Amino acid sequence: MKGLPTESPNRSRRKIVFGLATTFSILAIVLFSSNLFGHLSIALSSVAKDKAGICPVSPRIAPTSFYKNNATVLTILNSKEYKEKSIQKLAGAIQIDTQIFDDQPDVDEDPKIWANFAKFHKYLQETFPLVYEQIDVQTVNTYGLIYTWKGSDSKLKPVLLAAHQDVVPVQKETLDKWTYPPFSGHYDGKYIYGRGAADCKNVLIAILETLELLVIQGYKPQRTIIAAFGFDEEASGHHGAAQIAKALEKTWGHDSLYAIVDEGMGLNIDPVTDTIFANPGTGEKGYIDILVDLTTPGGHSSIPPDHTSIGIISELGYFIEKDPYKPILTSKNPILGHYQCLAVHDPKHKIPRFFKKIILEAGYNKLANSKLVEAISKDRLSKYLIRTSQALDIIRGGEKANALPEDTKLLVNHRIAIESNVDAVKEHFTARVVEVAKKHGLRVKSFDKLVYEPEEYEGAGEFSVYSTKGGLEAAPVTPTDDNVWKYLSGVTRHVFEDLVFTNITYPIVSSPSIMTGNTDTRYYWNLTRNIFRYSPFFVDSFIGGLGIHSVDERLPFEGHLQLHAWFYEYLQAIDTVKADN
Ligand SMILES: *[C@@H]1O[C@H](CO)[C@@H](O)[C@H](O)[C@H]1NC(C)=O
Ligand SMILES: *[C@@H]1O[C@H](CO)[C@@H](O)[C@H](O)[C@H]1NC(C)=O
Ligand SMILES: *[C@@H]1O[C@H](CO)[C@@H](O)[C@H](O)[C@H]1NC(C)=O
Ligand SMILES: [Zn+2]
Repeated sequence: MKGLPTESPNRSRRKIVFGLATTFSILAIVLFSSNLFGHLSIALSSVAKDKAGICPVSPRIAPTSFYKNNATVLTILNSKEYKEKSIQKLAGAIQIDTQIFDDQPDVDEDPKIWANFAKFHKYLQETFPLVYEQIDVQTVNTYGLIYTWKGSDSKLKPVLLAAHQDVVPVQKETLDKWTYPPFSGHYDGKYIYGRGAADCKNVLIAILETLELLVIQGYKPQRTIIAAFGFDEEASGHHGAAQIAKALEKTWGHDSLYAIVDEGMGLNIDPVTDTIFANPGTGEKGYIDILVDLTTPGGHSSIPPDHTSIGIISELGYFIEKDPYKPILTSKNPILGHYQCLAVHDPKHKIPRFFKKIILEAGYNKLANSKLVEAISKDRLSKYLIRTSQALDIIRGGEKANALPEDTKLLVNHRIAIESNVDAVKEHFTARVVEVAKKHGLRVKSFDKLVYEPEEYEGAGEFSVYSTKGGLEAAPVTPTDDNVWKYLSGVTRHVFEDLVFTNITYPIVSSPSIMTGNTDTRYYWNLTRNIFRYSPFFVDSFIGGLGIHSVDERLPFEGHLQLHAWFYEYLQAIDTVKADN
């Protein structure tokens, strides 16, 4: 049989969903258009006791260098010439096509497929000559990149900045829909266009621009600075980030890093409060594709059984969809923390007082929890932040009009809730298969174990439940009550309040968020608990505004400079033992 797409399901694993901003705008509509508030006669009498402890605002934190001389960071943000040069650097990176497709062979097996990454490396070396001269550059599995700038104080844990070199493919049919060609890096006066402009050559270039600038200035870090760039993040990362992780763990050891800052969300105007929030990703949902094969005896379709394997698989599909996962929202989920931040930092008083109470009590009051869950669940974009999703994505079966289908396959994609795990999803799935098997006298093998056999098995057929790539647990949640978080959010306040939005009248609060997709950080869990999927720049809307994975991927160039300025201030601000936990 020719290879079915069901055999290579990792494509769908790939992506970061920059959906949260949109999610919350929809949530805002849900909150205010539903009659939710109307029927709330809930006896939530006591206002949350300890409001002060919830989502505290970090002080603004600037590096001492800023007070001595702020010229450089102001140049990054405001200088015309600097901007021109920066546009060139990012445009050049976009112009090198580093598309990645699923299931590419190993680099050694088929070097030609990967040849563009050699070009990309050459470009980086030419564009950032001083980085290559003064910082140790190591390659891993040929095209993975690790830059190590040794700090003078080995007691300070290294910080890791991460990004990826690859980009998702441009679909040929959409080429004529691009305003500017996807590998042009065209700048139209506001946006820079092209595949990778926002996901995430912008991050990669901003990191290298920052290092180059610091080298030029003769900066001598105390804390080691590492940058690491995978080259197949968009196709699961096992050639790139997985190997980089091994190399880093070998060099530095378990739990050896101060923090990891990888691609993610940044700042936007929160639609609920109508104020600016920063949204570092402090968690990621888990992932598993579960396949089920049903084999039944073949035969001529003129004398069919009552149910063919296609019919039975369809029945299974029906049961699966009829029984979606239940929502769950505990304090383990950063989303609860996110709403708490909105509730206590709402300078324009956009959230009704009783709904604030609901949010603040949702961590321990069942009724309040159910009300918040209800509000979040009203919309498709937000509902999956608090539950496991299941999507019937592929079905295959049957060969011929006059032959009964002997083998039918279904693939169901799951994004696992923060509070759940891979085994729970496997069990849940298997239980439903068994339910259908009982009705039809079928056997069930699940993950290599025979889990059900009818008392008198008559050879009706067999279900086989499996997963080709295994599952990925939800990521460990990054703490938001420690010094590392305080520095991350404090530097964000400094950059955006002191330098970008200078007339703002309220503090820019960092509020924890989760990704419903996965980044390269899935391989980095052993290196630190302090992982942030976070690209601090301001954009109105991540989905519509940036065209990520879509036509007209583009980035407002101001955002690029903000990100660059943030890295520049952040690296210097954490270059002290005071930033440690
Ligand atoms: C930058 O430094 C100059 C000179 O010391 C000072 O006047 C200015 O206020 C500083 N700018 C910011 C944003 O702190
Ligand atoms: C801050 O200034 C910008 C222009 O520089 C303006 O668009 C914005 O409305 C101002 N915000 C406030 C809160 O005054
Ligand atoms: C983390 O370390 C554990 C134990 O050493 C190992 O089994 C696991 O594969 C590692 N995880 C990753 C993502 O490298
Ligand atoms: Zn990305």
